[in-house]
Amino acid sequence: MSVTILAIESSCDDTSASIIRDGYMLSNLIANQDVHRLYGGVVPELASRAHQANIIPVVDQAIIQAGITQDEIDAVAFTRGPGLLGSLLVGASFAKGYALAQSIPLIEVNHLKAHVMSHWIKVPGKEMPLPELPFLCLLVSGGHTQLLIVKDDFSIEELGSTIDDAAGEAFDKCAKVMGLTYPGGPLIDSYASKGNKDAFKFTRPRIADLNYSFSGLKTNFLYFLRDRIKEDKDFIAKNIEDLSASLQQTIIDILLDKLVKAANKTGINQIGIAGGVAANSGLRSRLLEEAKHRDWEVFLPEFRFTTDNAAMIGITAYYKYLNKEFTGQGTSPLARYSIT
Ligand code: KG4
Ligand code: ZN
Repeated sequence: MSVTILAIESSCDDTSASIIRDGYMLSNLIANQDVHRLYGGVVPELASRAHQANIIPVVDQAIIQAGITQDEIDAVAFTRGPGLLGSLLVGASFAKGYALAQSIPLIEVNHLKAHVMSHWIKVPGKEMPLPELPFLCLLVSGGHTQLLIVKDDFSIEELGSTIDDAAGEAFDKCAKVMGLTYPGGPLIDSYASKGNKDAFKFTRPRIADLNYSFSGLKTNFLYFLRDRIKEDKDFIAKNIEDLSASLQQTIIDILLDKLVKAANKTGINQIGIAGGVAANSGLRSRLLEEAKHRDWEVFLPEFRFTTDNAAMIGITAYYKYLNKEFTGQGTSPLARYSIT
């Protein structure tokens, strides 16, 4: 029996729709919202308005690009949370209406779990090995930094998480201090590739267990720049590449330290990263480096599946469909929604 899912993601500032058939991605459309660039961060009210304008054309294109017709869709999935309530409401309302109109089941998906599940998206004509379970995953996004185990039944156990800022926030906030536009993570990544990672030393937190903290680094970075700018007002412009490389290296060291500890503690050797920061080239190459001298099999999601996308919602929904985990029309979005 073939299963075709229409999936919708609208938790933040990307409107995305995807068609997933039997675990294979047939299409994955993403409409980005440029309006936020002017404000240095996502403006919730503008985000929900843009979702409203984008959702129908994006869904339409996802169906056309998949080369299917609407009556081939067996279920419609949407992101229930976590995210911006107004943004989530657009996707959830659309999915509910679509399920009702087409008389097909509705499937709700946790956005964080979907980031992790992106490792199971299959691309036609591009067969890749899928992780075996249990799988140890470092989820690093703009709002979350968590060490997670995907267990044999695809349920999630959390080993640790950040006690303050997320890794993506550390990238974005430090980028903002350097005068870079939002989101600064990708910009730091690109400057870092031309810089010296040992040029400057920044603070590393001492946090118990498998938890993370990034707020100290952010403050340290801010004060460091403030002092240097007093001596030379062009300090940032002259050193942007070395600053980026050193900052990125510090964030990667912090992330890897706990990931190694988690792998040693659990004995799991199937290791992956997920979420927007998983696009970071330094983090990706460091992980491949670590795998060489450890008994690790490392999984790096394709770039297009690291940041927010509906294919990851679709693959999560596909496994829920197989378990007949459907949602009633009474469901509503959740701004906060735990992954476990
Ligand atoms: O998962 P995501 O798309 O949205 C959330 O659910 O948060 O992650 C967005 C985060 C932003 O903080 C962005 O700066 C960061 O991912 N990011 C990166 C890179 N690409 C995206 N951070 C570092 N290096 C990158 N190449
Ligand atoms: Zn996300």
